[in-house]
Amino acid sequence: ILPKQVKIVEVGPRDGLQNEKESVPAAVKTALVNRLSGAGFRNIEAAAFVSPKWVPQMATSADVMAAIDRRPGTIYSALTPNMQGFDAALAARADEVVIFGSASEAFSQKNINCSIAESIARFDSVAQAAKQHGLRLRGSISCAFGCPYQGEVSPESVADVVRRMRDLGCDEIDIADTIGVATARQTQTVMERAAREFSIDALAGHFHDTYGQALANIYASLEVGISIYHSSVAGLGGCPYAKGATGNIATEDVLYMMEGLGIETGIDLDIVVDAGQFISQFLGRKSASRAGNALAAK
Ligand code: HMG
Ligand code: MG
Repeated sequence: ILPKQVKIVEVGPRDGLQNEKESVPAAVKTALVNRLSGAGFRNIEAAAFVSPKWVPQMATSADVMAAIDRRPGTIYSALTPNMQGFDAALAARADEVVIFGSASEAFSQKNINCSIAESIARFDSVAQAAKQHGLRLRGSISCAFGCPYQGEVSPESVADVVRRMRDLGCDEIDIADTIGVATARQTQTVMERAAREFSIDALAGHFHDTYGQALANIYASLEVGISIYHSSVAGLGGCPYAKGATGNIATEDVLYMMEGLGIETGIDLDIVVDAGQFISQFLGRKSASRAGNALAAK
């Protein structure tokens, strides 16, 4: 039996846009976030307080957080790799901060310039500060199914980082397929292994769609009881430190599937379709959402 309801975390404004070469004005990002909150998302990843030298596109994060209309009950999250990021997120009134590590040593070095062990030590101060200020704490684990630099990643190394993030006090932990290589059975194996370390109700699936497997992997995750999924409106995105990786699974496609399965999301698909067309028009390209394009053409 599948979960009756799921939580969808919309990551388009952060994961979706972070890799865009041309700077997207804060006003456009703000309009996108507002359209998404209007669609009913309870959780929107809106900002990343990271080094602007590493990810220039996210340099406007504070402006976006200051300008958005905050919908009561919606959690606006921000990525915070260290205390400098945490302080910025706190000042910007983020509701949830995200520490992001990796199950792959090689990717950890490329993405955050330190080893897995060093990252956990850094996250410890962020975690303590989050608790002290009453912010939600989320942990994200990249390359849980494969790494662009080291290739295979074992379920044991994922479990190891899950355990460390649990011990830091994370409220929620994301198992991420950064480069979109996972397939359905592998997804179930890794999710079930992670669930031996952390409550399955607070584990999330974050699937990029590089190999077209993301929707199948979400269905496979539903079968083993995962009920939190990340997706990106119009399928925007890619990670600057994972060359060739495409965007997250498109939100419209996920919502279409959930509706068909009778699984509640609390989100209005039509409004998300409009938001997807809005941002795609701004970027000057066709939306990567198959369901979004089909519904927009109706
Ligand atoms: P570093 O160079 O080792 O940091 O970078 P540092 O502490 O030595 O500082 C160097 C400079 O960066 C200093 O500035 C700091 O002030 C500045 P300078 O004195 O040279 O002018 N700095 C910062 N500036 C703004 N905000 C900060 C900050 N921290 C330091 N928070 C660091 C280490 C972690 C900062 C860097 O590697 C970084 O910013 N990495 C972020 C990479 C990133 O954002 N990747 C994409 C997001 S992760 C992702 O997409 C995966 C995910 O979607 C899940 C999945 O799909 O796998 C979540
Ligand atoms: Mg990602």
